[in-house]
Amino acid sequence: MNIELTEEQKIIQQAARDFAQAELLPGVIERDEHQKFPAEQIRKLGELGFLGMMVSTEYGGSGMDTISYVLAMEEISKIDASTSVIMSVNNSLVCWGLEAYGTEEQKKKYLVRLAKGEILGAFCLSEPEAGSDATSQHTTAVDMGDHYLVNGTKNWITNGSSASVYLVMAQTDPSKGHRGINCLILEKGMPGFTIGPKENKLGIRGSDTHSLMFSDVKVPKANRVGEEGFGFKFAMKTLEGGRIGIAAQALGIASGAYELALKYSKERKAFGKEIRYHQAIQFKLADMATRIEAARLLCLKAAWLKDNHQNYAVASSMAKMYASQTAMDVTIEAVQIHGGYGYVKDFHVERLMRDAKITQIYEGTSEIQKIVISRAILAD
Ligand code: CAA
Repeated sequence: MNIELTEEQKIIQQAARDFAQAELLPGVIERDEHQKFPAEQIRKLGELGFLGMMVSTEYGGSGMDTISYVLAMEEISKIDASTSVIMSVNNSLVCWGLEAYGTEEQKKKYLVRLAKGEILGAFCLSEPEAGSDATSQHTTAVDMGDHYLVNGTKNWITNGSSASVYLVMAQTDPSKGHRGINCLILEKGMPGFTIGPKENKLGIRGSDTHSLMFSDVKVPKANRVGEEGFGFKFAMKTLEGGRIGIAAQALGIASGAYELALKYSKERKAFGKEIRYHQAIQFKLADMATRIEAARLLCLKAAWLKDNHQNYAVASSMAKMYASQTAMDVTIEAVQIHGGYGYVKDFHVERLMRDAKITQIYEGTSEIQKIVISRAILAD
């Protein structure tokens, strides 16, 4: 793997950094406090091509590689992880899934607008009783000939109310277990499709997370993604790439907190000198910087494998597991370095600490990543 960035990748990284400073930093504390969705910022991200980064230009995307996506996710997440999860779900779960497995008709009808950021997408796998245990889907999609009739509930759906297009996993033939699950494209406004209230979350409070309820929603057969019964494998394949996005989000949260702590250590004085001259702070910063560098390399490795058409399932799980733990540990230390100031909102690190936690939970908990990694290690 070559870890030297190309000129194009550096330009994308700088563009994301500039956007985060100019468009996301102002108002980020207020959006978090009032759970305000960053609608205007998302619109601008779409115009810049950041919502369909890896989609080919033929389908309205930017045609960039996964490494560029990781770089952009890190920069956006340093400043505003609520915005970056909206970006991640649209890019790596919805757009990637549709480009890889959708029909030509589905790509023209949905993918082009999603990739341009004209509309947002959501990925609907989790249910009230099916989180980590994703094969036990209770949402049903009964085959009615030319359409499916969908009933059930989905939980914790990112972009739950802001999306227009929803990729919904649902069980069509329970006798076949996970091989009876389909992925169906639902549109907001379909009769029988309702959106529950917004969740009041610990972190990533600017993003909108909702339950979705389906009552006899009629979905045309043409809206099934992939072959009959491909839905669970579709979800697993899509999450392999999604986990690279969340790993990069965790990396950004960690590096954002580290940069703030480093800056503060050069400003704050205690016992007659800047706190950076105290070994207690120096050792913390050394640990933080090393962990972040390791997380970055794992993210880039997973992205490189994906870009080079090699198996990246284990690499993406390793990157997510390690980067999310790093985000948690680094943000806690960043708050500690800030002392009392770290505990109030104006200094940003308390928000980053709250945002970090979800990276160990969504798109597969850290325990699920360990299952994926250990199964691969132990496979004969
Ligand atoms: N690619 C292709 N197929 C895969 C696969 C992969 N990466 N992983 C599993 N499969 C296939 C298996 O081959 C098997 O198929 P066959 O029986 O036909 O061979 C089938 O899927 C079932 O696999 P397992 O027997 O391994 O199933 P399991 O129940 O033991 O474990 C799991 C699977 C890895 C634990 C899986 O359930 C899992 O990943 N759970 C976590 C779910 C998750 O990540 N949810 C996140 C929700 S989305 C979200 O958070 C988005 C958001 O809004 C931010």
